[in-house]
Amino acid sequence: MAAESLNIIPRVYRSLPMPSVFLLLALVGSALSQDPLPTQDNVTDYAPFMNVECPDFSTTSLIREFSPQNQSLHPSEVQYVESRLNTTVQDAWNTWLGDGSTLSYNLSAFQGRFPKVGLAIPGGGLRAAQYGAGCLSGLDARNDSAKAAGTGGLLQVASYMTGLSGGSWVTGSLFFNNWPTIKDLVFGNGGSLDGWKLDLPFISPDGDDVFSTDNQYFYGSILWSVIAKAQAGIIFSRMRRLHGAGQLWSDIPDIPAFQQQLTPFPLIVADSRPSGSNLTTALGPESVVYEISPFEIASFDPQLSAGMNLTYAGTHLSNGKAENGSACVRGFDQAGFIMGTSASLFNQIFDFAHNTLQGFSSSDSNTVIYILQRQLRSVRTRADDVANWPNPFNGLKSDTYQDTKATWIELIDGASNGENIPYGPLFVRSRALDVIVTIEGSADDTNNWPNGTGAIQTSSRLSTILRSTHQQFPPIPQTAGDWISTGVRQRATFFGCDPLQTPAEYPLVIYLPNAPPITGDDPVTNTGTFDLSYPLKHTQLFLDQVHFNTISGFTPNANTPDPNFGVCLQCAAVDRARAKITPVVPRSSICSQCFQQYCYDPQHPPSQSELPNRKLTFKDPTPQGLTKVTGFLGSNKFRLLGGLIGLVVFIGLLSGGLIWWKKRRDKQMYSQVKILHDDADDATGLWRPSQGQRYSDYHAEAYELSEPKWEGPEKESRPHSP
Ligand SMILES: *[C@@H]1O[C@H](CO)[C@@H](O)[C@H](O)[C@H]1NC(C)=O
Ligand SMILES: *[C@@H]1O[C@H](CO)[C@@H](O)[C@H](O)[C@H]1NC(C)=O
Ligand SMILES: *[C@@H]1O[C@H](CO)[C@@H](O)[C@H](O)[C@H]1NC(C)=O
Ligand SMILES: *[C@@H]1O[C@H](CO)[C@@H](O)[C@H](O)[C@H]1NC(C)=O
Ligand SMILES: *[C@@H]1O[C@H](CO)[C@@H](O)[C@H](O)[C@H]1NC(C)=O
Ligand SMILES: *[C@@H]1O[C@H](CO)[C@@H](O)[C@H](O)[C@H]1NC(C)=O
Ligand SMILES: *[C@@H]1O[C@H](CO)[C@@H](O)[C@H](O)[C@H]1NC(C)=O
Ligand SMILES: *[C@@H]1O[C@H](CO)[C@@H](O)[C@H](O)[C@H]1NC(C)=O
Ligand SMILES: *[C@@H]1O[C@H](CO)[C@@H](O)[C@H](O)[C@H]1NC(C)=O
Repeated sequence: MAAESLNIIPRVYRSLPMPSVFLLLALVGSALSQDPLPTQDNVTDYAPFMNVECPDFSTTSLIREFSPQNQSLHPSEVQYVESRLNTTVQDAWNTWLGDGSTLSYNLSAFQGRFPKVGLAIPGGGLRAAQYGAGCLSGLDARNDSAKAAGTGGLLQVASYMTGLSGGSWVTGSLFFNNWPTIKDLVFGNGGSLDGWKLDLPFISPDGDDVFSTDNQYFYGSILWSVIAKAQAGIIFSRMRRLHGAGQLWSDIPDIPAFQQQLTPFPLIVADSRPSGSNLTTALGPESVVYEISPFEIASFDPQLSAGMNLTYAGTHLSNGKAENGSACVRGFDQAGFIMGTSASLFNQIFDFAHNTLQGFSSSDSNTVIYILQRQLRSVRTRADDVANWPNPFNGLKSDTYQDTKATWIELIDGASNGENIPYGPLFVRSRALDVIVTIEGSADDTNNWPNGTGAIQTSSRLSTILRSTHQQFPPIPQTAGDWISTGVRQRATFFGCDPLQTPAEYPLVIYLPNAPPITGDDPVTNTGTFDLSYPLKHTQLFLDQVHFNTISGFTPNANTPDPNFGVCLQCAAVDRARAKITPVVPRSSICSQCFQQYCYDPQHPPSQSELPNRKLTFKDPTPQGLTKVTGFLGSNKFRLLGGLIGLVVFIGLLSGGLIWWKKRRDKQMYSQVKILHDDADDATGLWRPSQGQRYSDYHAEAYELSEPKWEGPEKESRPHSP
């Protein structure tokens, strides 16, 4: 069977269009992700369900429209967030701050009116994912050392958590594994959790030989899945769909931890490219930014101001209605696809028109190149470098919405407009957040440290395009150079501590950047965005280093932890509560002292010189652990990307797949893949429904086909074909 299965791949390539590399890789994440909960292992229908009965449009709407001046949130979001604020979050504040006496506040004087807190986890591939994980562990009350330091507890009081690209995998991974501790999530718990296993080369799960049978099964199944879905009319895949919670983003509300209101409300950010524009450069600030919650895909940008019921995502709607009441789609919102959507920067990385990646040795045993090369030689179809979503907003907001006439919306990596930190949803006015925690693992400078670029971009978009709909960013250094010279990018910093108005005109931003160890040790956390695999030891050191920095704050002109940092973080988190009651409670002297040290005051900016002995250069703790892929991509990265932030996302996508895929037990996966292959009709290479399968929607005609152009002899690129 193996040999025939392998042959399916080239045949399929010849006969059918291939959606994007993005999609391909998104599938790595989704098709093979682990079931989070014990469910039946039932191989049934993986694709979204096409042509399901729509709700009755005379009584229900799948669209929520609002105006920029009068925004509304999804009622289920409001319900979740509000009811948590009164229960779990209230308890978490009390557990974290006690009676408030360490901060010299009387907590009961706040009458339970605590600030509303959100966390943002930006993109940046496995680096950002690991940074996010390490930082969260330092804010998690379930972690002993974090709790002892006083920082552990911030996670529990958070109402929202946003993720973008690499950051969306941390988010997704936490949710679909039922909100475990970071330690269990990343390293496994010896039971239901396998850990991230970043040491395995995810792109070639069976080892270096990309042409080995098992690796070919792996790629084959991915390609095959894409094709099966293409035939179903939507660019998507057939995938493993199990009973119960856990596969669809809209299943998140069924996850036990969510039911028990233990988790913040998750939101994923994706940008959009004006449909049909074929834009291959960075997006301008005016392009609509979307967010995906467990309840809807929406945009609070003034141009759109609408949301669609996520359960029915994938349905083409015009003026809010399906053209045919039996033509709705369900099951489009596969978790891997959502995360993949947030992480698809391919149009800014590769020049599809000129096949920039062509010319690599096809015998290079390098899976990325192998897949990309084949991909690029395949036919072009509907914009193949974006995540194509059927447009549910067609016909809406015809004066302002860029895609009001479009049949598809082209979603693309959330960082494509320069905003690598998923701040947008957290500044939406109607969410009224008081505190925004930035878990900043972006790689901006040449040493892969952040330099403020993401925050500057967001600040500028908020003050222009989003002025009517979003809160403003507090004062920050205006240029990357200023972020560097003030040192704020190298240590915990609070922005917006002293608003002029009551209530405050902007939220307080707690900024926790990936930075060199305060101890003066060599950093292991500023890894290249193209690092695709991490030896276990490196991941451990990575998380420990981040964790230590997160709980330590900084001591000016020294290399020791600040014993008061926990208190200072608590001061920042709770500060906005003072103004929620009348009369306003004055800031306590201990908190004022903290703010002297940690707040950014534009009038009296701090200096990097207060942070001595910080080593900027990455020191690989496991030099022999480098993979060929890393070496290859690393050495080509500037040529490939021209320095775009996009590199962050590219790797993000690859590694997103990794995190998800890793969690499947390998053998199980291979047998799954084999089953998939076995389904295919060897005579044509096309999938056919066979006895006992429910793959009901086989529409060869529904997909936009163009002339197949690929014709290279298959043997050439498979020199080691078994
Ligand atoms: C799969 O689902 C069908 C119908 O729901 C059920 O009859 C069958 O027993 C299931 N198979 C397995 C292996 O769980
Ligand atoms: C704002 O929108 C809500 C519905 O979302 C509506 O009930 C309310 O009347 C609107 N308020 C104004 C001032 O238009
Ligand atoms: C939360 O508590 C406030 C004040 O105690 C109350 O007004 C509000 O209705 C409560 N909200 C929910 C969703 O329980
Ligand atoms: C704290 O505030 C509450 C309510 O305002 C008050 O009853 C209590 O006596 C105060 N505790 C202290 C130690 O001041
Ligand atoms: C807390 O986090 C640190 C750093 O990641 C880790 O070494 C430690 O095991 C964690 N403790 C618990 C109880 O999870
Ligand atoms: C985008 O590309 C498509 C297909 O190549 C072409 O038909 C269309 O005219 C292009 N659009 C623009 C705005 O260039
Ligand atoms: C989506 O629509 C269905 C049908 O009207 C409804 O039952 C469901 O509650 C909606 N879900 C959300 C999240 O709005
Ligand atoms: C509506 O869609 C269903 C499913 O595709 C199809 O069978 C039916 O003919 C369509 N009806 C109309 C009026 O187009
Ligand atoms: C800051 O980062 C951006 C990319 O995010 C980069 O283009 C720029 O050169 C960096 N500037 C400095 C001064 O490091």
